[in-house]
Amino acid sequence: MSDTADFPLVQFMREEFDPVAELGRIRAEHPVFPMEIPGSQTVYLVTRWEDVRAVLGDHERFSNDFAGVIGLGSNQEDPGGLGFRDPPEHTRLRKYLTPEFTMRRLRRLEPRIEAMVAEHLDRIEAMGPTVDLVAEFALPIPSLVVCELLGVPYEERADFVKISKDRFDFTAGPEASLQAINDAMTYLTDLVARERQNPGEGLLGQLLREHGDELDDRTLASMADGLLTGGHDTSTSMLALGTLWLLRHPEEAAKVREVDGYINDVVEELLRYMTVVQVAFPRFAREDLELHGQQIKKGEMVLCSLTGANRDPALGEDMDEVSPGRESAGSHLAFGHGIHRCIGAPLAQMEMRIAFPALLRRFPGLRVAGEVPFRELAIVYGVKELPVAW
Ligand code: HEM
Repeated sequence: MSDTADFPLVQFMREEFDPVAELGRIRAEHPVFPMEIPGSQTVYLVTRWEDVRAVLGDHERFSNDFAGVIGLGSNQEDPGGLGFRDPPEHTRLRKYLTPEFTMRRLRRLEPRIEAMVAEHLDRIEAMGPTVDLVAEFALPIPSLVVCELLGVPYEERADFVKISKDRFDFTAGPEASLQAINDAMTYLTDLVARERQNPGEGLLGQLLREHGDELDDRTLASMADGLLTGGHDTSTSMLALGTLWLLRHPEEAAKVREVDGYINDVVEELLRYMTVVQVAFPRFAREDLELHGQQIKKGEMVLCSLTGANRDPALGEDMDEVSPGRESAGSHLAFGHGIHRCIGAPLAQMEMRIAFPALLRRFPGLRVAGEVPFRELAIVYGVKELPVAW
C-alpha cells in the first residue's frame, strides 16, 4: 500500500454493513493518512479510536469553521447550524438548545412517537404484500419526529415531510439540492415568524418565549435547519440498516420482541456497528501542529473516520461483529465526541428503542423480500430501499 491515496474515497466505501478492508489496513499502518486530492490541499484521514477522540475533543487546535481559519470571516447565516461553528458562537447557540434535549423535555415526545409509529404500522399492514420500508417507515418517522420536536403544525406536516425528503435527495443534482436547501430555509423562516406571533408548545415556541429577544428569525431558522439535517437522514439510515440486520438475525429479532429492555443494548451496538455518519464534520488545524508524527499545517483539513474508530480493535474483541451489551458499549463514537457531540443522541435513541420492537412485534413474520440496494459513497451510509413482506 502506498503512503498516500490518489483517490480519497476509502473512508466512504462499504461492503454491505462493513467498511472496506483497506480502511482497516490504513488504521493499522497509517494512523494519520495523507490523502492527495488533485487540485487541492492534502487532507489527513484519522482512523483510530483514540486519535479520533483526541481530535474531536480538541477544539483549541481544531476548528469547524473553515472560513474563520483561513481568515474569510464566517458567514453566520449559513444553514446547517452548529456543526460549522466554533466557540464562542457555537457555545452561545448550543446553550439555547441543550435544555430542549434533556430527558425531561424529550419524554413529552415519547407518546407522540409511539403513536406515529403505530399509525405507520397500521398503514403498512393495510398495504402489502410487499412494501418498501424506507419509503413507508424509515423516512417519514424521523421527519415527523423533527416536526413534533420543532412544533410544525399538523396541517403542514405532509409538506414538511416532502421538504425534508427533497433536502436529502442528492440524486437530482446540485441545482435541485440548492433549491431544496432554499425551500427548507424559506419554510423554516416563515414558520419561525409565525411562531414569534403565536408561540406553540414545540422547541421553536419554547425558545421564542424564553429567548425571543436574543435570537433573530434567520438564526432560529438556521438552528431548526441544523436539527432537520442532523436528525433526519441519520435516523432514517439507522432505522433501515438496523431493521435489515435484525431481519437477517432472527434470533436477535426474537429477543428484541420478547425481552424487555434488550433493545437498549441492541440499539447502542447497532449505532456503533453501522456508524451511519461515516466521517465527522471536517476539522481544520488552527495552527501548524503534529499528530502521530505527521506534520499538519495551519488551515489543512483533518477528516475523522467514525467508521474506522468504531471498528478499532483497541475498543474490544470482534469489533466486526454485533455483540449487544459489550463492555465498551458506551465508548463508541457514532454520535461524535466533545463540544459538537450529537445533541439529538437521546432523541435518536428514543426513536429506535420505540420503532424496532414495535415493528418486529407487529409483523412477527417480517422478511426481506428482494434485492437491497446500499448507498454508494455517501457521508451518511444507508440503503436506498428495503423491500419487505410478512
Ligand atoms: C442515529 C441518529 C444520529 C446519528 C448517528 C447522529 C450523529 C451525529 C454526529 C456523529 C455528530 C457530530 C459530528 C461532528 O462532531 O463532527 C452529530 C451532531 C449533531 N447532531 Fe446528530 N445524529 C443523529 C441524530 C440526530 C438527531 C435526531 C438530531 C436532532 C433532532 C441531531 C442533531 C445534531 C446536531 C444539531 C448536531 C451538531 C451538534 C454541534 O455541532 O454542536 N442528530 N450527530
